[in-house]
Amino acid sequence: MRYWSHSEIRETFLKYFADHDHLVIGSRSLVPVDDPTLLLVNSGMAPLKPFFTGEQDAPRKRLCNIQKCVRTNDIESVGDRHHLTFFEMMGNWSIGDYFKQEAIEFAWRLISEGFGFDTSRIYATVYGEDRKLPEIPSDDESLRIWETLLPPERIIRLGAESNFWGPAGTSGPCGPCTEVFFDRGEEYGCGQPTCGPECECGRFLEIWNAGVFMQYDLRGDGMFAELPFRSVDAGAGLDRFSIILQSVDSVYETDLLKPIVEIVVSESELPADAKSVRIITDHVRCGTLLISDGVQPGNLGKEYVLRRLLRRAFLHSKLAGVSSETLLTAAATVRELLSPYYPEVKDSGELVRHTIEKEHASFETTLRRAMRELEKIVDSSNGSITGADAFRLHDTLGLPLEMTKELAHARGLTVNEKEYKEQLEEHRRRSRG
Ligand code: SER
Repeated sequence: MRYWSHSEIRETFLKYFADHDHLVIGSRSLVPVDDPTLLLVNSGMAPLKPFFTGEQDAPRKRLCNIQKCVRTNDIESVGDRHHLTFFEMMGNWSIGDYFKQEAIEFAWRLISEGFGFDTSRIYATVYGEDRKLPEIPSDDESLRIWETLLPPERIIRLGAESNFWGPAGTSGPCGPCTEVFFDRGEEYGCGQPTCGPECECGRFLEIWNAGVFMQYDLRGDGMFAELPFRSVDAGAGLDRFSIILQSVDSVYETDLLKPIVEIVVSESELPADAKSVRIITDHVRCGTLLISDGVQPGNLGKEYVLRRLLRRAFLHSKLAGVSSETLLTAAATVRELLSPYYPEVKDSGELVRHTIEKEHASFETTLRRAMRELEKIVDSSNGSITGADAFRLHDTLGLPLEMTKELAHARGLTVNEKEYKEQLEEHRRRSRG
C-alpha cells in the first residue's frame, strides 16, 4: 500500500462520491441546531436528521461530506492507539435513493480499487438477530451481498450492541448496520482463539460503517416506527483510514496529529506514546474545535464537556511538565492543520487563545486549593482515598472524580469509587428532597 496524506484521503473520498452523483456539502457546526436530544454532533448524519425523517427536503438524494464530530463517551480510552474525542467522519448518504446493494458496493470499490487496501485483511460484520430488539429481523440481505465479495469466514453476524446504529441522540432515524474491519495483524492482537472483529484488543480496526440502513424511527416513547422511506447513512473515520494508509502504529503518528504531539513532547521528558501526551494532544485538539464553533467552558451541557476536556489537558500537562504556553502553541498547530477545511477554525485564533488562557487561570486556582486538600487526605490515607473525601473534593472544590483518580494514581493510591457514587446519589437525593 502506498502512503496517503490525510488531504489525499479527503480528496479521494469526496471525488469518488461526487463522481457517483453525490452532492458535496460542507461540515456543519459541532453544536446541533434545533435538536434538543443531542449535546454535540456525534456523527455525520446527526445534522441531517430532518432529511431522513422527511421533515425537510434534501438538496439532492445523494450527499457526502467530511463532518466534524465529538464523542466523549469513550474518554477513558483516549490514550490508546485509536480513540479520540474529536474526529472527522467521511460520510455518504442516500436519502430515499440507493440501499444495501449500492452502499456495500460503493464501500468495497473505494476500499479495494480506490485506496488499494489489502483486501485479504478485510472483514465485514452484519446484524444478526438479537433478543434485545425482537422487532428487528436479521440482515440477511447484507450477508448475501458480502458473500459475493468476501469468503464466508470473514463475514460475521453480530447483535444490536455492535450492529444496530442510532439514533444520534435519544430519538430519530436508526437501523441495522454493516461495518468493515481491517485486520492489523497478529502482533496487534490478544492471541485468544476467539479474537475477531468483535474483540476489543485492537487487532481488528473498524474503518467504515458502510451503511446504517435506516428504516426505523425510534420515537420518544421507545417504540420503533417505520420511516416514510429507506435511507443509507455510511461513515468512515478519516483518522482510522489514515492509520492504515500511512502504515503507522497509532492515530498519533498520522499526519493529522503528529505535528501536535511533536509540540507537546518538545517540552516534556515523556515519550510521544505516553498516555498523558496523547490525552493533552487529543483534548487540546477537541477543545480548539469546540471553541471555534462558539462553545465556552461552563458547568452544564456542552460547556461542561469543553471545561472537562481543557481541565484534563491542563492536569496532564502538569504531570507531563508542559507549560500553558506550549498548550497554546499546540492549539495554534491544531488550527493550522484544520484551517484549510473549516473556515471557522481559521478565524478563531484570538478566541481560542483567550478562552484557553482564561480557563487555565481559573483551573490553577481550583487546583491549588484541591492539591492542598488532597495532600492532607493523602497523609491520613491508608493506600486508598475514601469516597467521602473524593466527593468533598468534587463538591466543595470542583475537582472532578477523574482528576482525583489521576492525582491519586500518580501517588500510587486508589479511590473508592463505589462509595463516591453512593455519596453522590445521597447528595442528589437530599437536594431533591
Ligand atoms: N452514523 C454512523 C456511525 O456513526 C454511520 O456514519 O457509525
